[in-house]
Amino acid sequence: MTGLDMSRRSLFPLAVGFWASASASARAQSRAPWWKSSVFYEIYPRSFQDGNSDGIGDFIGMKDRLEYLAELGVNAIWVAACFDSPNVDNGYDVRDYRKIMPDFGTMEDFDAFLAGAKQLGIRVILDMVFNHTSDQHPWFMESRSSRNNRYRNFYHWHDGKNGGPPTNWQTQFGGAAWTLDQKTGQYYLHSFEAQQPDLNWENPEVRAELYAILKFWASKGVAGFRFDAITFIAKPEKLYDLTPEEIPARKTFADHGDRLSFYLKDMYEHVFKNTELYSVGENWGVNRDEYARITDSRNKELSSGFRFDFQIKDNVDAWRKGTFHLSDLRAFNRDNSFDDHPTTWPVVWLEDHDYSRSVSRYGSQLPEYRDRSAKLLATMMLSLRGTPFIYQGQEIGMTNFPFRSIDQFDDVFAHNEWRLQVESGRISSREMLANLAATTRDNARTPMQWNEGANAGFSAVKPWMPVNPNFRTINGSRESSDPGSVLSFYRKMIRTRKQFPVLIHGTYKDISPDGSQIYAYIREDSTNRALVVLNFSDNEKTFPLPEGQKVKRVIASNMDRKQIEGSAIRMQAWESIVVII
Ligand code: GLC
Ligand code: CA
Repeated sequence: MTGLDMSRRSLFPLAVGFWASASASARAQSRAPWWKSSVFYEIYPRSFQDGNSDGIGDFIGMKDRLEYLAELGVNAIWVAACFDSPNVDNGYDVRDYRKIMPDFGTMEDFDAFLAGAKQLGIRVILDMVFNHTSDQHPWFMESRSSRNNRYRNFYHWHDGKNGGPPTNWQTQFGGAAWTLDQKTGQYYLHSFEAQQPDLNWENPEVRAELYAILKFWASKGVAGFRFDAITFIAKPEKLYDLTPEEIPARKTFADHGDRLSFYLKDMYEHVFKNTELYSVGENWGVNRDEYARITDSRNKELSSGFRFDFQIKDNVDAWRKGTFHLSDLRAFNRDNSFDDHPTTWPVVWLEDHDYSRSVSRYGSQLPEYRDRSAKLLATMMLSLRGTPFIYQGQEIGMTNFPFRSIDQFDDVFAHNEWRLQVESGRISSREMLANLAATTRDNARTPMQWNEGANAGFSAVKPWMPVNPNFRTINGSRESSDPGSVLSFYRKMIRTRKQFPVLIHGTYKDISPDGSQIYAYIREDSTNRALVVLNFSDNEKTFPLPEGQKVKRVIASNMDRKQIEGSAIRMQAWESIVVII
């Protein structure tokens, strides 16, 4: 116990219970693993900062921008796929797990980046693409060379059925999930592109190889791993066909049950046990109970994970733009707070390298409210239970790109979909283009907008992806010196989250008025009760405070409000506020 606690005890004997429980919860929080109180930032290396003027982002560039990230206040970075790859899927098809992608630099560049981050107190986690490798990975080259090669069993090989593939399974990117390899006359399985063959986790040799790769990077000093497509690694015990209705929905054929848990526990045991390493899964396609099981700290599988239940609601069939409903967002946040599961820790995110920009999806479409709505989204993200992951550019309010023709897209998924739907005559090119433009993950992959200079300061030469034409207004340098900018608001909000642990660890209760565009919730711990009010609309709205409550203090406001009098808050369009009541 600190001296301060002692003196408070003797001065205020009646408050003993309060202080005792407050310090107990403070103790519990200080024992909490580092990643619970961290704010993460995802870097998509190809589009972050070019350091050697070839139009592609790299580790030299990333190192140069570490100060910017420290100033933003994030204390951990997730570097998206950055290993040697033929880039069929931009690095998510790995050829060598121990080599940095030459486009991004050398191992020395990586080491310098890691050391630079460490100096600033920023941890780094890496993206492990372990569901599949590239078809150019030596394991697969061996595996496909003959039926009795010692690597044959590293992948899933099966005989065809009735002159076709073993089952009717579809990939996540469209098309059959089996490819016939002429040389040996068998089919191999791939959940994504044919150049991304799925690894056979059932084979203990495969697992041993993967664990050795994790240890290699852990010994360099990385703080953990994001596991790509991790819920795809377990396959059904027996082959079976999907029903015709399940096929267009591209239902995953992965097994989210016992085998998945078995692999994750095995990995924990071999790599994570007795370490502080963090593991965060891309927990695609699992339901809430499965999520809770996989990330329950008592089960020793994964520390945490990304869920997609909300993101896919307005991204129908992965390409069609759905309508955003605040009620869906609220339902998801309630579900994802895991208040009923204290041993489960969620991830909070709105953007990553696979989704379009949040301000374009959920914010105001009126230019006068764009920035304010970006700040409202920041207020929400940074006041929910869980570890927030900010995606590069989100903190300056980057928007979707004005795509006008299919040649402007880079993503393999967009081109596949074009072939499958438009060239086959199923969907008109106009309809497809309008939808893809709103939903494509290429929106997240345009270069980071650093300043008003050539190529937005991303590169001295023409970048691999075009820069969004709005870079003269939306850019880091301008926003850095403007206290009213989206960037300045993110900085403040991250500080506020650190200063008020109730925003990290407190309980969550949605108190939004029925059927309104006002979203309000209370976060509470033994020290504080914080009320968050968000107006998701272009109109002014009044929010009555809970019966008998007064605002003690405003701790965040996207309208710079200093205090609130009375028993109601008059909320401007897209206004957001966090108060202690
Ligand atoms: C994950 C990645 C995505 C990639 C896919 C296949 O969803 O985030 O970018 O295309 O896995 O590895
Ligand atoms: Ca470069």
